[in-house]
Amino acid sequence: MSDRSAWTSRVGFILAAVGSAVGLGNIWSFPFRTASNGGAAFLVVYLVAVFLIGFPAMMIEFVIGRRGEQNPVHAFDRIGHGNWSFVGGLGAFTSFVTLAFYSVVGGWVFSYIAGSATGAYFGDPAAYFGSVASGPIAIGAHALFMAVTVGIVALGVTDGIERATKFMIPGIFVLLIGLGVWAATLPGASAGYSYYLTPDFGTIVNNFGSIVPPAMGQAFFTLSLGFSVMIAYSSYLDRDDSLPADGGAIVVINTLVAVLAGFVVFPVLFATGGAEGATGGSGTAFVALAGAFGEVPGGQVLGLLFFVVLLFAALSSSISLLEVPVSFVTEQYGVSRAKGSLGMGTAVLLVGVPAALGTNYLTFYNDVVFNLLLPIVVFLLAAFTWFSGRDIVDELQRGTSLGETFPTVWLWWVRLVVPVAVAVTLYLGVKGLYTGLTNGTYF
Ligand code: PFF
Repeated sequence: MSDRSAWTSRVGFILAAVGSAVGLGNIWSFPFRTASNGGAAFLVVYLVAVFLIGFPAMMIEFVIGRRGEQNPVHAFDRIGHGNWSFVGGLGAFTSFVTLAFYSVVGGWVFSYIAGSATGAYFGDPAAYFGSVASGPIAIGAHALFMAVTVGIVALGVTDGIERATKFMIPGIFVLLIGLGVWAATLPGASAGYSYYLTPDFGTIVNNFGSIVPPAMGQAFFTLSLGFSVMIAYSSYLDRDDSLPADGGAIVVINTLVAVLAGFVVFPVLFATGGAEGATGGSGTAFVALAGAFGEVPGGQVLGLLFFVVLLFAALSSSISLLEVPVSFVTEQYGVSRAKGSLGMGTAVLLVGVPAALGTNYLTFYNDVVFNLLLPIVVFLLAAFTWFSGRDIVDELQRGTSLGETFPTVWLWWVRLVVPVAVAVTLYLGVKGLYTGLTNGTYF
């Protein structure tokens, strides 16, 4: 495996993993899920889910990846648990399905960059969304987004992924902070902040069942957990880095971006009508924001900047989604990176076409991933820790100055607490999916 590429530096790895984590999930889904699930109440549950469930679960993927030094399917073999390879495979499959609809939304972002530049969406934001969200334009934009993703992944881990994210992540921060400062000057700013940041614990208690599944799903999705991505990325990592420190940095930076995005989106929404504008499906987010940019001073330039940020975020995530199946076919079948990327990219393109033909299908793909696949994979990862022996504890400890206590507490936490939390989420999620299937939400 000596010709296996590796990150050129620890910062390169952290940035690439942050690039995977920071995506449409942070800047698009997070503020809108927060807006439509009670504001600050959702924020609190989400933060708990990220730090107490997501972070420890991320460490499971890290230890498997670094110890296995292989693609996510083969990594389990390498650490002596080949019969768990299917978990890596299921994660890779989840990446594949996710990219199919993620890329359609990435395509929308291209259309909104064009629409900001030309001013096309200002007159009638809802009609503009309708014209770009599904149909030929959506398919073309989806193809464009996949082409860019394939191009970067084909260049490889260091030349493509690491270089692209080194440029995009700082760009996202600078632009978001700038937009946040601008948003603070809007008339809706204080109402927006208060809805976003003043939790009402009564709301949490009364809406526990409806807040927990989206908060937990959002936590996994945003941390790129359950996709085998973190197994793949940590397999390119040096033996003597501290996994908890790297993971902690990734989780904190990822959370900062999401919270920062809220500081842009909430003032904008409250400047033009409040949180109601954001409730509803995937499209309302684009319609509400585009409408808001149409109404505020300087909206055209700011809209353009916002959608460019969103594009960077989406691309640094989509390349990680494609990397997982590509690393599998290149290592397992000796296919060249260029051919593997092109072949997988084409398959993803085709599977995504239905999602580009109707937003109801896109919602279906989304819900299958959020409500079913992600909780299943994370549950299986947690189950694996019962069978892995103490190897994973040693791996977590390697390169750190931690004693025995923290890794041991972690082991029991991921064995006991994580699976229970995930099982509850899975139960509620499957119920939601079933309801959607029986009441005609999707088909
Ligand atoms: N974390 C990304 C987001 O929040 O948009 C989504 C994602 C990207 C999930 C890459 C999984 C992944 F492998």
